[in-house]
Amino acid sequence: MIPLVEENRWLREQLMLQNRLAGVGAIASSVAHEFNNVLMVILNHSKLALKPTANPEQKNIALEKVVQGCTKAAGLVNSMLGMTRNSGRQMQMTDLGQLAAQVVTLCEKELQKHRIRVELSLASPIPTLVMPALLEQVLLNLVINARQAMPQGGILRLGVRANPEGTIGEIRIADTGIGISPDKLGHIFEPFASTKKPDEDGRGGSGLGLSLCRQIIEAHQGRIRVESTLGKGTVFTIKIPLNTAKQAA
Ligand SMILES: Nc1ncnc2c1ncn2[C@@H]1O[C@H](COP(=O)(O)OP(=O)(O)OP(=O)(O)O)[C@@H](O)[C@H]1O
Ligand SMILES: [Mg+2]
Repeated sequence: MIPLVEENRWLREQLMLQNRLAGVGAIASSVAHEFNNVLMVILNHSKLALKPTANPEQKNIALEKVVQGCTKAAGLVNSMLGMTRNSGRQMQMTDLGQLAAQVVTLCEKELQKHRIRVELSLASPIPTLVMPALLEQVLLNLVINARQAMPQGGILRLGVRANPEGTIGEIRIADTGIGISPDKLGHIFEPFASTKKPDEDGRGGSGLGLSLCRQIIEAHQGRIRVESTLGKGTVFTIKIPLNTAKQAA
């Protein structure tokens, strides 16, 4: 018989994986569309560059666009691979600003579609030893929550910085959405605390997103906290100790 502790751990892992896949699923179709758009840009500008009538300057401009398109496509693929890599618990030296930028790259189109403007403030580089796939999962959960809290559109502010001593990294995600009432605010990190219904594909609304976020942040010896004003918006702040490989060794 499998010991209960083992079974419990296995179930937790499954929930974590399920949440990761649900997050990726929520943005997959807009990422695929974005990828397609970029391919069209590459294709059209390649054709322009090949035109016998194009002069050298026009060819150069077209090729610049091809290079830009390829860089963007590579960024999308890398971010998606980062999100789906299964070595979830592997510690890696990671730049927190770059990690946040990757999540935004993936969510950009989805947010645009919902008329949400993104304001980024990324101090970079902030290198630290973390489990990048899990931190990406946290950010994706928070960005999706913020998107769902702004059905009429709004502003999503994402800031990453380090304290002046360089010992703590801070990630701040603020939205201008519906906010959370004071009676609910104290419970949102509890498992199954949800005010949402699953969408038409049966996705979302499990109420596990934030409880997993807290578990992941605590596994990094960090803290996550929330401030919210009903009707005005919500701010999540994550603080994690910055570990260099030397400190961790
Ligand atoms: N940015 C936010 N603005 C307003 N309410 C929020 C925000 N983030 C979370 N909440 C509230 O906290 C609850 C719990 O969030 P959590 O992410 O854990 O679950 P969920 O989003 O309901 O379900 P799931 O993440 O599984 O799809 C939400 O149902 C919502 O009521
Ligand atoms: Mg959620």
